[in-house]
Amino acid sequence: MALEEKILTANIGKKTSSDIDSAMQGGAYEALIKALTKMTPEQVLNEVKISNLKGRGGAGFPTALKWSFLPKEKKKIKYLVCNADESEPGTFKDRLIIENDPHKIIEGIIIAAYATNANAGFIYIRGEMPLGAKILEKAISQAYERHFLGKNIMGSGLDFDIFLVRGAGAYICGEETALMNSIEGKRGEPRIKPPFPASYGVYGKPSNINNVETYANVPAIIKNGGNWYANLGSKDTPGTRLFGLSGHIKKPGIYELTSDVTVRELIFNYGGGILGDKKLKAVIPGGSSVPVLTSNEIDVEMDSAGLKKVGSMPGSAGVIVMNETVCMVKALLNLIKFYEHESCGQCTPCREGTHFLRLIIEDIEKGEGKEGDLEKILSLCKNIMGRTICPLGDAAAMPCESFVKKFREEFEYHIKEKKCLPETIKMTTVF
Ligand SMILES: Cc1cc2nc3c(=O)[nH]c(=O)nc-3n(C[C@H](O)[C@H](O)[C@H](O)COP(=O)(O)O)c2cc1C
Ligand code: SF4
Repeated sequence: MALEEKILTANIGKKTSSDIDSAMQGGAYEALIKALTKMTPEQVLNEVKISNLKGRGGAGFPTALKWSFLPKEKKKIKYLVCNADESEPGTFKDRLIIENDPHKIIEGIIIAAYATNANAGFIYIRGEMPLGAKILEKAISQAYERHFLGKNIMGSGLDFDIFLVRGAGAYICGEETALMNSIEGKRGEPRIKPPFPASYGVYGKPSNINNVETYANVPAIIKNGGNWYANLGSKDTPGTRLFGLSGHIKKPGIYELTSDVTVRELIFNYGGGILGDKKLKAVIPGGSSVPVLTSNEIDVEMDSAGLKKVGSMPGSAGVIVMNETVCMVKALLNLIKFYEHESCGQCTPCREGTHFLRLIIEDIEKGEGKEGDLEKILSLCKNIMGRTICPLGDAAAMPCESFVKKFREEFEYHIKEKKCLPETIKMTTVF
């Protein structure tokens, strides 16, 4: 049974939760004070390591391990980056924290700075979040007023500044190295790795990047201890996650739960079931970039181990629910149009592959599909995956391949009969 522990949403719902006084009444900066006055940077890093906190931006990389990649020398300039670009379809969890509890993010970044001896931080927020940018700007200036930022923070010897950078609205700028180029004022194009950000990041300096929700977990870990966190919920992805439920669901929204919640429990217990009491047809469990699940594959936990059993991943934990009226061909066309549009165009498999995938799927959807089209789709997906500079290629190919493999009969019906399945004609868009 999943736990409903409130770590990330504890202050949400209070009227002035983004204001520093109100946030401090709710415990904000207590963990930072504990870290700076009672712990060494090594102890802070060790506590995060014990917690087994995994990144919430999509790949689930262990956070403490990533921090430990930064050079140890104090004198070397190091930057921390907070990825607040949140542009993945179906994903809207970071915005909730940014707009309602920005001090939790700022506190998490400062604790990370203490653990890694970093000199400055950048919060990169997507252009379409003007309210979030305003709230963060105010919260950063309040943190300076209270001396949680600036020179010799609270007499600890730590000097640390945070700069807010606004993006211009491109999904690819959420990819870590494209984001770093964008901070530098360059085109948001991913860099070839290696070198990795820990040795060559923002302005060529060693940098660490984490998602908003990842940093927001850090204060609770320092306050309650790594062991407390490591024992919460799922073994492979401990702690709580903000699961975003959208699509054909009675109660869409964000649910803070441990990752041992099953897909079924999320949809039926927390989300209230399927809109219009229709049948569930499909679920994309981790934002739009992961393989889709059929209605028979939902009795698995929402962590990496659970979703692996059904060939998928937790990604950004944005759960997109589709009922029986959804035409899977049209839904996939919608998805692939997004990836084609957002491909930065640097690599041929991604640029041309997403384009040709869109053309083929569009033909099938229009009733102009041909025999052999499904093989072409699967072959294109195979030739994109693992052959690109950044994971956007895989992010486009993985859902595409799974739609065709898991709903093949529907795609075949479309090609043969040149129309949607009868029950899907009144389809409503879910993305
Ligand atoms: C196309 C693309 C878009 C991405 N968008 C985001 C995003 O909006 N937010 C985010 O945190 N990570 C995003 N990522 C993942 C980041 O590259 C990176 O892995 C993440 O910020 C690391 O943080 P974490 O270790 O805390 O998860 C994206 C990756 C790709 C390939
Ligand atoms: S995979 Fe796509 S988005 Fe990523 S670098 Fe290549 S072309 Fe650009």
